[in-house]
Amino acid sequence: MSAPIDRPRRLRRSAAMRALVAEVHLRVDDLVAPLFVREGIDEPQPIESLPGVVQHTRESLRAEVAELKALGVKAVILFGVPAEKDAVGSGAYDPDGIVQVALRDLVSDHGDDMVLMADLCVDEYTSHGHCGIVVDNGLGALVVDNDATLEIYARAAVAQADAGAHVVAPSGMMDGQVAVIREALDDAGHTEVAILAYSAKYASALYGPFRDAVDVTIADDGDRKGYQQDHRNVREAMREVELDIAEGADMVMVKPALAYLDVISEVANSVDVPVAAYHVSGEYAMIHAAGERGWIDADAVALEHLTAIKRAGANIILTYFTRWFAERGVEGV
Ligand code: PBG
Repeated sequence: MSAPIDRPRRLRRSAAMRALVAEVHLRVDDLVAPLFVREGIDEPQPIESLPGVVQHTRESLRAEVAELKALGVKAVILFGVPAEKDAVGSGAYDPDGIVQVALRDLVSDHGDDMVLMADLCVDEYTSHGHCGIVVDNGLGALVVDNDATLEIYARAAVAQADAGAHVVAPSGMMDGQVAVIREALDDAGHTEVAILAYSAKYASALYGPFRDAVDVTIADDGDRKGYQQDHRNVREAMREVELDIAEGADMVMVKPALAYLDVISEVANSVDVPVAAYHVSGEYAMIHAAGERGWIDADAVALEHLTAIKRAGANIILTYFTRWFAERGVEGV
C-alpha cells in the first residue's frame, strides 16, 4: 500500500495553521442582540426557558445596551411586552408604547453609534396572540385578516421610525407588508429607515421560549400555520424573498436558522442584499438545556452552530448568544 500524496491533514496540524486556512470567521459585527423590554416593571424579570435573557425595565435596557456597546456589539433588536393587550395590538403603534419609549431612550444614549432595530409585529400586543387582526372565518375559527393588518403595520412602522428606529423588521408574514411599510415610511419622511424583512419565516416549533419571553399564548390552541411558512418548502421561501425585495426590503431574513441552512444557502446565492438568519429561542434553549445536563459542551456547540449559519451564507445573525460571544471575543473553541 502506497502512502497518500494528498494530505489535507497538513493544514490541520496546529491551531495557528487552522486559523490561517479557516474559510469563515464569526465576528461580533455580524451579530444582533434580541432584547425584551416590558412595560410597568421595576426589576428585570428572568425568563425561565431562556437562561441569561431577561425582560428588561426601561432602565435595565439602557444599561444592557451600553454594556453591549462597550463589548463591541453594533446592533440590537427590540421586542416589547406591553402592560395591557387588546384585540388590535394598539401598543405596537402607540407613540408611547413600550418599544417606542425604549427607542427614544436608546437614541438619546447612542444616536447613530448603535443600530437600533425594532421587531414589527403585533402578536406581543394582541389579546389573542396572533400577528394581526383576527376575524371569524364563518366556520367558528379565527383567521388573520391580511389586508386589515397591513394598516396596523404601517402605523407601527411610522411610530417606530418616529421614535428613532434605524431599521424596522416586519415579522408577521402578511402578504404585501413590505410594500405598505415602505410607502408609509416614505410618506412620513423616513426615507432613511431600512427594512429588514423576515421573509422566509417558518411556522416553527422552535419559538416556544420566545412566547414565554413576550407572554404570548395563541388563543384557542391556535398556531401560525395560516401565515408562516411550511417547513417542508424551500421554493416557497424563494418566492417570499423575491417578493420582499421587489417590495423594497433592504435586507432579508431566514428564520429559524439551523434546520434551514439549505434555505439560507439558496437565498444567499440568489439575492444581492444582505441576508440575515435568526438563531431563535428554541435553538438557544436546546443548547443550554443539554449543556446543563453535561450532555454537550454548550460553548463549543454554540460556536459550531453560529459559524455554520455564517458558512451557509448569512451575513447577519440574530442570536441570544450575542453578549456571550462578544464577551468571549474569539471565534475558536
Ligand atoms: C413575532 C416573532 C416571533 C419571533 C420573533 N418575532 C414569534 C412568532 O412568530 O411566533 C420568535 C423569535 C424566537 O423564537 O427567538 N413577533
